[in-house]
Amino acid sequence: MSREGSATTVVIQTETDIVLVRQATREAALAAGFSLVQQTKLVTAASELARNALVYGGGGKAEIEVEETAQTGTVWLTFIDSGPGIPDIERALTDGYTTGSGLGLGLGGARRLADRFHIESAPGQGTVIKLAISTRRKT
Ligand SMILES: Nc1ncnc2c1ncn2[C@@H]1O[C@H](COP(=O)(O)OP(=O)(O)OP(=O)(O)O)[C@@H](O)[C@H]1O
Ligand SMILES: [Mg+2]
Repeated sequence: MSREGSATTVVIQTETDIVLVRQATREAALAAGFSLVQQTKLVTAASELARNALVYGGGGKAEIEVEETAQTGTVWLTFIDSGPGIPDIERALTDGYTTGSGLGLGLGGARRLADRFHIESAPGQGTVIKLAISTRRKT
């Protein structure tokens, strides 16, 4: 795990690294002033995307960044892998669609939990997924 300014990077190569992604995500959510419900949403989404990066992407990394203004706290998560990519993103987001042995709920679930969600992926080009959850801070 490495830190630079408000950004933390976690390399994802093993199951243990998913735990580290969850921990770093929880810390960022706390730093951003998230409620327990929001922390749990963010950690759940992070967990799903880290697992996808490990299982389908053959490993990769997560970048975790806190962005604060006077009124808001936002955590940005970016998951990057150089795996096979996702040929049909809409289909991959559909509940119940899986090419593995999962339930096919992770990607769509993560999108629903996030306030911002963006996927860049193409066959042979790996996958980059960026998402954010924001909270309004008490002033
Ligand atoms: N990083 C990735 N690289 C390549 N393909 C991916 C990646 N993430 C998801 N996919 C594809 O999208 C499908 C749907 O992903 P999703 O997370 O929704 O379901 P799952 O991982 O198969 O099951 P679950 O997450 O419910 O355990 C995957 O089965 C896989 O084909
Ligand atoms: Mg999944």
